[in-house]
Amino acid sequence: MPGPPDHNTFSAVDAFVAGTLFAEQDEVLDAALAAADDAGMPQIQVTAPQARLLAILCRTVNARRILEFGTLGGYSTIAMARTLPADGLLTTLEFDPDHAEVAWANIERASLADMVDLRIGAALETLPLLTAEGAGRFDFVFIDADKVNTPAYFAWALDHTRPGGLIVADNVIRGGDIVDPEGGEDAAAQRKLHEYLAEEPRVTATTIQTVGAKGYDGFTLAMVNG
Ligand code: SAH
Ligand code: DHB
Ligand code: MG
Repeated sequence: MPGPPDHNTFSAVDAFVAGTLFAEQDEVLDAALAAADDAGMPQIQVTAPQARLLAILCRTVNARRILEFGTLGGYSTIAMARTLPADGLLTTLEFDPDHAEVAWANIERASLADMVDLRIGAALETLPLLTAEGAGRFDFVFIDADKVNTPAYFAWALDHTRPGGLIVADNVIRGGDIVDPEGGEDAAAQRKLHEYLAEEPRVTATTIQTVGAKGYDGFTLAMVNG
């Protein structure tokens, strides 16, 4: 029997979910994780159950155009890009060229190179280029880069996502920092995100707290109103 709910329990439950629902080996995602680990990259990708949630949400909105902020080793990228139809495209924005290099090798190994457009650079600098290229309109956006800029990414995403599309931001709760006035600038940005969404008539938004192998955190989900 698991003890009182603590981090060990959260990890054990994630392991149970993976061991049942994802019992069939996923060689591509496993290889992507191993390559990122070998490269010494931080293990801050979404968990396996969260990756599956992203894939379910992409399919729910029939995503053909996906935008991701924060590629890291391409774990969430691969989970989402796999749901795309043959003419689909996922654009993913990554600041760190070393992360991008590992991610691109993972994406190629996953046979998804034709469906993924990986852009190296600070996302706020890449976004005007995407606008100029006429990128979008996106069906699904996953915001998971530098947390202080989540509100700015959300605002851009909203202007480039179709009605009925979905925008999801990771790491909005961060162990409860969001309600801690001393929680730092990342936490302050998540409060700002909520204040901004509250005033934004174009979306229906909620935030769901999560626990799991990566601790206590949460997602903000916003559907663009039709
Ligand atoms: N989405 C990934 C995890 C991303 S971790 C997954 O779940 O598999 C956050 C990533 O954002 C890191 O790779 C970091 O280098 C990148 N990042 C940080 N600041 C950024 C910026 N300004 N623009 C784009 N990417 C940024
Ligand atoms: C960090 C970033 C993430 O996207 C995440 O899910 C967890 C941690 C980080 O920068 O520490
Ligand atoms: Mg994250």
